[in-house]
Amino acid sequence: MLDKRIEAAIRRVVGVGGEKFSVPQTLDEAIQYSVFPGGARIRPTILLSVAVACGDDIPSLADAAAAALEMIHCASLVHDDLPCFDNAETRRGKPSVHNKFGESTAVLVGDSLIANAFGVIAKASEKDPLRATKLISLLSKYTGFPNGICAGQAWETETNVDLSAYHQTKTGALFIAATQMGAASAGHDPEPWFELGARIGEAFQVADDLLDVLCSEDETGKPAGQDLVNQRPNAVSAYGVDGAKQKLRNILGGAISSIPSCPGEAKLAEMVKLQSNRLLPKEHMKPVA
Ligand code: IPE
Ligand code: IPE
Ligand code: MG
Ligand code: MG
Repeated sequence: MLDKRIEAAIRRVVGVGGEKFSVPQTLDEAIQYSVFPGGARIRPTILLSVAVACGDDIPSLADAAAAALEMIHCASLVHDDLPCFDNAETRRGKPSVHNKFGESTAVLVGDSLIANAFGVIAKASEKDPLRATKLISLLSKYTGFPNGICAGQAWETETNVDLSAYHQTKTGALFIAATQMGAASAGHDPEPWFELGARIGEAFQVADDLLDVLCSEDETGKPAGQDLVNQRPNAVSAYGVDGAKQKLRNILGGAISSIPSCPGEAKLAEMVKLQSNRLLPKEHMKPVA
């Protein structure tokens, strides 16, 4: 049910229509290519699940927040794949954006999605401008510096890396945004929702680091073994495969109990359980290389 709502929310805001000037075709096409078809849409799923658990009394605002968050995520993938970052040729089972459209277009795709995301929330603000302002502020915090993805990706240029800070900012940030924006879009205090987002986010990156060594490109839709190739600090090099799996279980073990009390707590716990089970690598998976 949320899947359809999420796709419709994103479709409503990504794309052109009614512009006063003609639009550069390649950038338009590349933006569409970077957002559709999507990946797992896990961040907007979490955002809307939390919004629903908190009453979802202004669904149009929650939809805008979910779409904006996914736009930032898609932008982060386009930039992350660029030669100056991970130099990845594929993403979601097809050529990465710079590989298909060129680097300058890829930079502009990311820039456009980031800039437009904030406008999407601003446009949906009429029912409750204060809530919308809070949402814009949270999205800004977890996108930029020092608490957001920009800070996270910047750890890759440091010699001494704090793995936990690296994971929390490059990946955890948008999951914290998901839980906190979900709560804020329904008029709840976002603060108590920090831990749930941080736990799912850290777990998500540990799981991604495991998939990087346990899965082939056919399985993930993106190049395998990249953390080693790019010498990225990662959970597998830090703890080994079994240690990383144990870390994943430890982080997720506390996730359900970190759900703040809210009207839809029980149903939300089911969603967290489902997503947690998806994150744990299957027993049969062994290092590919
Ligand atoms: C990939 O995120 C980037 C990481 C933070 C590891 P996702 O695995 O959520 O990517 P999509 O959107 O489903 O492709
Ligand atoms: C996520 O880290 C980086 C982002 C902030 C987009 P990775 O570099 O491990 O993600 P993948 O493996 O390319 O999806
Ligand atoms: Mg990458
Ligand atoms: Mg990765």
